[in-house]
Amino acid sequence: MATRPMTSPVGYDPLDEATLADPYPQLAALREQTPVAWHEGMECWLITRYEDCVRVLREHETFARDPRRLGIAVAEAHLSVQVLDPPQQAGVRSLFMTALHAQDLDALQDRLRQMIGERLDQVAALPVVEAMRELAQPVALVAIADLLGVTPPPLEEWAEISDTIMRSMDAGLNPELIEPGRRARAQLSDLVDSWFTTTGQPAGLLGHVRARTAGAGLEQAAYVRHTARVMFQGGYSTLTAALGNLLHTLADHPEILPALRERPGLVHGAVDELVRFDGPVQGTTRLATAEVTIGGIAVRRGEKVTVLFAAGNRDPAVFARPDRLVLDRTPNRHLGYGWGAHACLGTVMAQRVLAALVDTLLDTVILPRPAGSAPRRRTATMRTFARLPLSLQP
Ligand code: HEM
Repeated sequence: MATRPMTSPVGYDPLDEATLADPYPQLAALREQTPVAWHEGMECWLITRYEDCVRVLREHETFARDPRRLGIAVAEAHLSVQVLDPPQQAGVRSLFMTALHAQDLDALQDRLRQMIGERLDQVAALPVVEAMRELAQPVALVAIADLLGVTPPPLEEWAEISDTIMRSMDAGLNPELIEPGRRARAQLSDLVDSWFTTTGQPAGLLGHVRARTAGAGLEQAAYVRHTARVMFQGGYSTLTAALGNLLHTLADHPEILPALRERPGLVHGAVDELVRFDGPVQGTTRLATAEVTIGGIAVRRGEKVTVLFAAGNRDPAVFARPDRLVLDRTPNRHLGYGWGAHACLGTVMAQRVLAALVDTLLDTVILPRPAGSAPRRRTATMRTFARLPLSLQP
């Protein structure tokens, strides 16, 4: 049985320009040559085969999200549904899941379609539309605030806070990001705390959560607030990235919208395929709680294991023609929303938001097309655009 090699046999730098532009050839090489590869710089095992990714995400007893299970301290302010593992996670996860399912998502989707339609009316005639600023960010903010039942903060201020938090996720690669990230998190806490302390109950999902946790113990109440932060900031940033990636893919594949105009019944499946094809969340990390063998490689207790969703989602062992968009791909059990105990809590909401954008475009004659260079943000965890200039004319 192989053990940890001294150097990474396949160089992989998620922040390298070519990888940011198109990570898929590198990920395919890793998956084919070293599907479980030790990365010296990232100090973790990179997992790239679909079946290994699913195994790590499913076996939460062996692969911990919560570092405290390995004796590593975690600041109280970081304990949320995202960090707690089962069984401790169950109460807060089901609280938010129940609250989400209690929302009228049909009505929310209708409101979003209306809002997107109005924005398209305002900008579509411009020769170049910066689609992150004009579409992805405002749609994501309105969507997540509507779901939670709160008044959205001013977009520019909020986008800055959210970007700083997102960049600080790569603080392991660049320690200068730690302090700005801490300040931005404090601003996020103040904002979310205000939704829990103001006398007027928020409606929506947070109203539901507040009503059910009014008498909860202190520890439980803290998990709930921190989870509300994850929902708001994580929901906003992933939705922004996903809307941008989707618009970019539509512009790059001008055949998609006409095909969907002919078969609108495919929209639901198509938005899932678009997330498989170029989803925003590149990967996630767990810690091995015991010595374990993955793909013939011995992983030691305490070592980090990084599941690369983006690699699993293009694994030809599971997805025929993985580098092609297949709008009616069935089945399509991709990993874009994760898997298992920590799978995305907002999946149904995210699907509605993406479908609202596609549905609204289908009602127009717009055909998005690239209109200039579209650099990606230099972030390893979130695949997103810094700018996305598009033409939205017919
Ligand atoms: C297209 C948009 C989205 C994508 C691609 C996405 C993707 C993901 C992924 C891959 C995970 C799992 C991470 C892991 O295993 O460590 C996750 C977790 C999560 N997502 Fe999403 N997400 C999206 C939108 C949203 C939205 C809109 C919300 C809120 C309404 C949300 C809330 C959450 C929460 C709370 C978690 C943590 C769940 C847990 O750890 O138990 N997400 N998301």
